[in-house]
Amino acid sequence: MSYVCARTGLKHHIFLQEWVTDGSSPIGMNLWEWLRRVARVFQEEGIRRLLITIVWRQPVYRRVVLMQRTLDQPVPDPSVRVPVVVDLLKETEVDEYINFRPNANPSEIRSLLTRGDRCFVARHEGQVVHACWATTSYAWIDYLARRIQLAPDEAYTYDIFTLPAFRGQNIVSTVMSVHVIPYFRGAGFRRMITSVLPENKASIRGLRKAGYQPFGVMGCVKLGPWRRDFFRLI
Ligand SMILES: CC(C)(COP(=O)(O)OP(=O)(O)OC[C@H]1O[C@@H](n2cnc3c(N)ncnc32)[C@H](O)[C@@H]1OP(=O)(O)O)[C@@H](O)C(=O)NCCC(=O)NCCS
Repeated sequence: MSYVCARTGLKHHIFLQEWVTDGSSPIGMNLWEWLRRVARVFQEEGIRRLLITIVWRQPVYRRVVLMQRTLDQPVPDPSVRVPVVVDLLKETEVDEYINFRPNANPSEIRSLLTRGDRCFVARHEGQVVHACWATTSYAWIDYLARRIQLAPDEAYTYDIFTLPAFRGQNIVSTVMSVHVIPYFRGAGFRRMITSVLPENKASIRGLRKAGYQPFGVMGCVKLGPWRRDFFRLI
């Protein structure tokens, strides 16, 4: 399926190609699972609690802003305010990554690396202070429980994180501009894509400085077992 953005004239051809709902996610729950939950709440807590659960707890409205950057555009000149050394995370360095993100699961990190995802890490005085993951197979948007198949010349960045003490130092834009974008451009890719919550102003600002522009909003509305997904260009 393809869309042409009225503002940029760019053709977006990957989105909605493949949207797969993950049954394990609370917002991707199937009807049978939902009915079992309804029955359990009714049995254990009565009709009043059931109605409250359905009316107040179940509705979901979620959306993310999709941002993109075509790789034929020039890379802005970044000015990182703290010296960092950027490298790809190796499988032998997973423990170091866990020190940086203690809530991460080491086996998940290993399997991401094994499937070919790249993790660009920035170290300051030997300590990992920032990481940015990138994949070329498919994008998984956990918040929406959505999987998006990428076109062969597209890369998707996700789970960008800077340690709180190092934020606001231009690390995101520098890692993107000097490492991630040249890496994928050199490998023949044409477009970088990412998703971000509209409220995440720091992330949007950092990405904009690296040349990313918002181009769409993707989301879902859910009430009980009913779910409607949407996508619109901006
Ligand atoms: C989002 C995040 C990665 C940004 O990292 P960073 O290293 O601080 O990014 P940068 O310094 O390159 O750019 C951030 C920009 O946003 C600005 N900024 C920070 N908070 C802001 C806010 N609330 N509103 C608007 N701009 C904000 C910074 O001032 C900076 O812009 P400037 O250099 O023009 O002043 C970091 O805040 C973070 O790890 N957040 C938690 C995880 C997260 O939300 N990840 C993004 C998932 S998509």
